[in-house]
Amino acid sequence: MNAASTVTEEVLASASACEDARLRLVFESLVRHLHAFADEVGLTPAEWLAGIRFLTATGHKCDEFRQEFMMLSDTLGLTSLVDEIAHRASTGASESSVLGPFYTENPPEVERGASIAAPGEGVPLEVRGRVRDGGGAGIPDAVLDVWGTDGGGLYDSQHPEHPVDCRGRIRAASDGSFAFRTVVPQSYSIPTDGPVGAMLQRLGRHTFRPAHLHFRISAEGFAPLTTAIYAAGDRYLASDAVFGVRSSLVEEFRRDEASGTATLERDFTLARAGAG
Ligand code: BEZ
Ligand code: FE
Repeated sequence: MNAASTVTEEVLASASACEDARLRLVFESLVRHLHAFADEVGLTPAEWLAGIRFLTATGHKCDEFRQEFMMLSDTLGLTSLVDEIAHRASTGASESSVLGPFYTENPPEVERGASIAAPGEGVPLEVRGRVRDGGGAGIPDAVLDVWGTDGGGLYDSQHPEHPVDCRGRIRAASDGSFAFRTVVPQSYSIPTDGPVGAMLQRLGRHTFRPAHLHFRISAEGFAPLTTAIYAAGDRYLASDAVFGVRSSLVEEFRRDEASGTATLERDFTLARAGAG
């Protein structure tokens, strides 16, 4: 840090009356790192103005269906890092993965074994598994919110009329088992018509995610799990645009050429609430 500058110390001192110790720690650390960053790169006024314009445009791009700030966090790897920090202490739970901007609260509940896909293109996929506790016992009544792309690689919320498609809630049976039908998800580009897309283009980065199915699993007495299962063999597994892939979450979506359908079998483990 430039020895002549006292502004950092002044800003740090400005929060000395803050009574929330955690808030003060976060604020002070953020200020220190931000100032060190500006100092290290010799940030110019024009560059910082461009940065402010970028953040303003990111905010303007957000609405009920589009969360550009979340995509910024995701493409900077910050979402995955925060997630890793939260799960550093091993609880025995399945690994988590990014929520992404396409989750919607309270999706329509369907019967176990039923389809969550509206009629349309795509390879029919049957998904089966069990939600278990750390000892391997099934968790009765676990609730699974699932969502994935349609056969064309789009989420329902990206369609102009937002029809519910490839999205639903399934309740596990008394032994924790669950099943539903959908279509095989596709690898897809995250939305690029906003400032985050422009940033990735300027950086020479691609914008694709490997094919995956999202799961948000909850059960009384257990910590909720937000995760995704990634398709083995996908060309983007090693270069996910949002850094969400974990090797333990890669699974074969088994194709049956004769019937033209596919199957995914996958169990999930939840940790007891408060276990880590
Ligand atoms: C997703 O997997 O749905 C997603 C995650 C981060 C950014 C865009 C999409
Ligand atoms: Fe996704």
